[in-house]
Amino acid sequence: SENSYSEPFRPQFHFTPQEKWMNDPNGLVYNDGVYHLFYQYYPEDIVWGPMHWGHATSKDMIHWDHKPIALYPDELGLIFSGSAVVDSNNSSGFGTKENPPLVAIFTYHLMEGEKAGRKDFQTQGIAYSLDNGDTWTKYEGNPVIVNDGIKDFRDPKVFWDESTSQWVMILVAGDHAKFYKSPNLKDWELMSEFGKDKGAHGGVWECPDLFKLKVGETEEEKWVLLISINPGAPNGGSGTQYFVGEFDGTNFTTNHEDIKWLDYGMDNYAGVTYNNVPNKDRLFIGWMSNWNYARDTPTEVWRSAMTLPRKLTLDKDESGYFLKNYPIANFNKLKKLEKEINAITLDAPFEWEAENLNHKEISFTMNFKDEITVSVRNSLSEKVSLAFNPKENKILFDRTGSGIVDFEDSFGKEIQSQPYMPIDKGVEVKIIIDQSSVEVFIDKGKYVFTNQIFPKKVYTKLDISGAEGAVISNLVINNIKSIWNEN
Ligand code: FRU
Repeated sequence: SENSYSEPFRPQFHFTPQEKWMNDPNGLVYNDGVYHLFYQYYPEDIVWGPMHWGHATSKDMIHWDHKPIALYPDELGLIFSGSAVVDSNNSSGFGTKENPPLVAIFTYHLMEGEKAGRKDFQTQGIAYSLDNGDTWTKYEGNPVIVNDGIKDFRDPKVFWDESTSQWVMILVAGDHAKFYKSPNLKDWELMSEFGKDKGAHGGVWECPDLFKLKVGETEEEKWVLLISINPGAPNGGSGTQYFVGEFDGTNFTTNHEDIKWLDYGMDNYAGVTYNNVPNKDRLFIGWMSNWNYARDTPTEVWRSAMTLPRKLTLDKDESGYFLKNYPIANFNKLKKLEKEINAITLDAPFEWEAENLNHKEISFTMNFKDEITVSVRNSLSEKVSLAFNPKENKILFDRTGSGIVDFEDSFGKEIQSQPYMPIDKGVEVKIIIDQSSVEVFIDKGKYVFTNQIFPKKVYTKLDISGAEGAVISNLVINNIKSIWNEN
């Protein structure tokens, strides 16, 4: 359908479907010059319904082309979340060596059914494409993994494990992850389980991912396991925890006891990473919503967006290993410099006004001793603010008065907070504001808040206040171009 992307709250540089309901990113895979983004999609309504895989493609993960729906429900069930791989050796036999198949691995969810014997029967199925994702054929031997009676049994992430030369699948089963292996993507054997006694268990485990990363600039390597949980996130509802440990081809193990979160905002869920990226960067996209209120947000034509694509890196400090997530370099293509200030000493609040802050990136470094607050607001005094409280070593994000918040109880109820390690050298802050989101990246993605907002008017005023004597340096404000409308 034709669409101007100019409706109220329509994100201008985040992926949204043209219309209707979207949730999790699925089947993230790079193949033959194309980044694929499949996603949980219900083409009939702007609330969740019988799931399909919607589809979009991109050359840079920033500009997207909408594609026809890739996978439709069938007699085995609805098409829930999953992943996709390039089967380069044609291990599945679905293609040829010359034209290796793209294989999608997903969960079938059967609402009703005799075979199921229970309402929410979940199994794993596969489908393949021989034309780089344009058309798909479901495997006639589906399901490839049957369910032995587990209620929640879903969201397979498959990757090629180089050390054992086999396909590895990780999926979630309620309160833990299960690891399988396969030579051909059709026959799967259970290897191990992880997590019943580790991590956060405030809700069901969903959308796992597993990959290896270098630690900082060293040669040390660690495996990272992502697990989305709903509910049970640190600031309410849906969120993503991660574990840093070892994977020996069979078992995942970790020895940290603390619970680690990818993002302390309320709107980064079900995020997973790309398979097959040429330079081996670990590229992540999350669903920018929360099951607490995903169905209730005040949009009409479509519902919900993806986060900005982010690169994941691993690092280490006194408190242990931590994962950083930060917008990918291609995002810089959308930026146009608007304002630059070298240094400001905060004797009085710093203020700056613009016609529209809802398509800007604001970056700066702050040196401060006392509490300091950064806010953006509109003429109705709707605002969001980010505050650092050095006495308690907490970063606070406040959207309680950000605009429309009353469509659901938890959306604007609490000020969000996350702990931070004392920072002497100055804190690097980046705030990226779209029509209906604010993404905050502190110290290159060590501390992140991703949040939706629904202001009745665009924000126009930036101010930084508190902490007398604080120094703000390298303040840069960039305009962010729309990816849909060339203006
Ligand atoms: C996560 C999730 C997945 C499931 C999908 C259904 O948001 O609940 O576990 O596969 O959404 O749409």
